[in-house]
Amino acid sequence: MPENRGLGGTESPQRWWRDGVLYQIYPRSFQDSNGDGIGDLPGIISRLDHLNDGTPSSLGVDGIWLSPFYRSPMKDFGYDVADYCDVDPIFGSLADFDRLLSEAHRRGIHVIVDLVPNHTSDQHPWFEAARSSRGDPKRDWYRWADPRPGGGPPNNWRSVFRRVGSAWTLDRRTGQYYLHHFLPEQPDLNWWNEAVREAMDGVMRFWLDRGVDGFRVDVAHGLVRPRDLRNNPPFQVRGWPRLRNWDLEEVHEIHRRWRKLLDSYDGDRMAVGEVNPRGLARLVRYYGNDDELQLSFNFGFLEQPWRAEAFRSIVERWEALLPPVSWPDYTLSNHDRSRAVTRYGEARAGVAAMLLLTLRGTPFLYYGEEIGMTDVVIPRDRIVDIDGRDPERTPMQWDATPNGGFTSGGPWLPMGDFARRNVRGQRDDPASLLSLYRRLVWLRKRSVALRRGKYRSIRAPRGVFAYAREAEGEQVLVALNFTRSPLRVALGSGSARVLVATDHSRDGDSIELERVHLPRDAGVTIQADQRTTMSQKTP
Ligand code: NOJ
Repeated sequence: MPENRGLGGTESPQRWWRDGVLYQIYPRSFQDSNGDGIGDLPGIISRLDHLNDGTPSSLGVDGIWLSPFYRSPMKDFGYDVADYCDVDPIFGSLADFDRLLSEAHRRGIHVIVDLVPNHTSDQHPWFEAARSSRGDPKRDWYRWADPRPGGGPPNNWRSVFRRVGSAWTLDRRTGQYYLHHFLPEQPDLNWWNEAVREAMDGVMRFWLDRGVDGFRVDVAHGLVRPRDLRNNPPFQVRGWPRLRNWDLEEVHEIHRRWRKLLDSYDGDRMAVGEVNPRGLARLVRYYGNDDELQLSFNFGFLEQPWRAEAFRSIVERWEALLPPVSWPDYTLSNHDRSRAVTRYGEARAGVAAMLLLTLRGTPFLYYGEEIGMTDVVIPRDRIVDIDGRDPERTPMQWDATPNGGFTSGGPWLPMGDFARRNVRGQRDDPASLLSLYRRLVWLRKRSVALRRGKYRSIRAPRGVFAYAREAEGEQVLVALNFTRSPLRVALGSGSARVLVATDHSRDGDSIELERVHLPRDAGVTIQADQRTTMSQKTP
């Protein structure tokens, strides 16, 4: 595997989003401050010390990504934006946002906000104008098409949400269909139109001028759809064919435009894209020649079975594909997918944490992951999301008081097992998952090898994923046992010291690298000294 010697190396300038750990907050579910059962911006402010109070008794994250808090009818819980430049009253006000930003910055926490450029809400004034008549000046800000001859939608393009079906909805008043790759209440903007591009530049400037550190870009491989409306090839038995309406060449122009805009600001403003094309090779293209997105989410881990070889393969492919100037990232959970602890089981949460926080690449944590929150079974009469994503969006579990300290009212989604699993209960327990997360995050801050070092795989028996991180003479070894049996692994020769073990009682132990003992479902991060010989990397 090629070693990465480019800007990803230790010589690169400090970039907070490369060196740091990022944390996703779903504002509806983090902390409610006014008893309406829905989280809000003042609530987030009140919990910032959990994220980083400057000491290792906090989690120590360097940045937060806030899912949308803009004005919205909430058909897709904020991903249907009716005003990009205002805060929905459910979440607070612009003044609250400014306060959140300065309180976060004061603690060294950067803030990125969600940019939702693929579509607006159908209640956005742009769409209200566009649908008012065929001749309206904003008509062309969205995609319109006549019914196909004989009636029905213009082509076979489908919404991402299975229950929606066709990506087209008929606007009866003007007799044409409009395009929407999500809900009918989320009409797609027409990215061929320069006025749309300029309007979205204005949105970005609005938030950058307020001081945000960047954006998470929703559906970043969507945006531009073919001008012609030819059908997608039909579904084949071997899976979906390449779809014509996603991941177009022309979308890269937009990302280059946004990169220029970000670079025109001082500070280190960045964008991380939700990019979900077919395969890592196409994902890499969204970094451009270091002139597009600074990061594209690698969702590979979200789709792997719990096997060391599956995770190793994602890492090795990503390392091999990324050009030297580009920087990897990893994530185990988000607001659209089942939580990692539910996918893999509670016993594996420690190994998953160690993996995420010791690889070369920016780790993105999802709120609640640090205490091992699981998906919550939602009774039928409490289901609110069109696409079955309520289980992974339930409120943060702060303590064992009623409603887990999240709200004094009725929570918008049922609470999980807060009495058993909560921040307060784990904070002072050195054996807790939260303590493990904190030890790993703070270790990463101290270790140049973990933050910036090169990655290389180490040969290991089946079921173990082992690797080295090296920089400036510092060598850190990581060995993760994905199996349910204890194993012995040879990581090299000589003795070394355990920096962090998933079983905290081993922290600080001296061990022989020829025979590293790994209990079931356990991992160790080891400090090797320069005289230590490491095993050969895998070919
Ligand atoms: C991706 C977001 O993560 C998801 O929650 C949303 O429903 C769609 N984009 C549409 O904005």
